[in-house]
Amino acid sequence: MPIISVLSLKGGVGKTSVVLGLAGAAVSRGLASLVIDLDPQGNATSILRTHKTKSTVADVLAHPTRATIEAALTPCDWEVGPGEVDVLAGHSNVIRFDSWTGQAFRPKLAKALQQLDGYDLVLIDCPPSLGALTREALAASDLALVVTTPSYFGAQGVERAVEEIKEIQRTVNPDLTFAGIVVNRVRSVAEEHQYRSDELGTIYGKSALLKPFIPDRIAVAQAEGYGQPVGMVKTAGGREVADIFQGYLNQLLRK
Ligand SMILES: Nc1ncnc2c1ncn2[C@@H]1O[C@H](COP(=O)(O)OP(=O)(O)OP(=O)(O)O)[C@@H](O)[C@H]1O
Ligand SMILES: [Mg+2]
Repeated sequence: MPIISVLSLKGGVGKTSVVLGLAGAAVSRGLASLVIDLDPQGNATSILRTHKTKSTVADVLAHPTRATIEAALTPCDWEVGPGEVDVLAGHSNVIRFDSWTGQAFRPKLAKALQQLDGYDLVLIDCPPSLGALTREALAASDLALVVTTPSYFGAQGVERAVEEIKEIQRTVNPDLTFAGIVVNRVRSVAEEHQYRSDELGTIYGKSALLKPFIPDRIAVAQAEGYGQPVGMVKTAGGREVADIFQGYLNQLLRK
């Protein structure tokens, strides 16, 4: 059951879109996946059109028991198959676990997930920060995937995210693997985007960048609006982005 955290320091770069893209790729090839919404904004929970649950990820962090985690699980409403996507429902309350308590870090999500099985893949959608919630995600994960846009501030955010991954590897989770960088919303005609992508390749090594980059396509926003995976958007852009996520899923499942 590979557990993949999707993170970035910077907001709005496409973490949730990447989580949903990978979940869409997994469902179309018959896998059972779980999306954990650790973001207080709850975007993944609302896009996946989940049903109301008795508990949420905030309760799971407060009481990491099997009972709480099971009460927070709900099937998503995507009418696609042949696989399935469940959601560990998010809640705005989870923000209270993002603050520094002054106490030693004792991972709760990792503890809760040890009591869970039956999924082929677990995807964790992180908030746009490198605070305690993202630490919870990294402590529970096998793989850490960093998302950025090809911009100056994006590249700075990648540096901080990679430092955080190394810190978690050193301290609480030596089994965590850096799975690479997703460069999202690339406009192939923009020289600045080419420059920033090359820069990331120079700093982290070309093999650290997942290929091909994800282009800027309106289909991603449309899929969100329809509450459907991007592959259900029957346009050239929808198919293009869905194919890229299939390729990413192959690469990640090989790691
Ligand atoms: N490749 C893309 N092409 C076009 N639009 C995109 C693409 N990727 C993401 N978007 C749009 O950018 C916006 C932000 O994306 P998303 O919500 O996935 O980012 P995020 O990193 O999860 O944001 P946050 O930090 O707030 O959680 C959304 O409106 C989404 O539709
Ligand atoms: Mg998000």
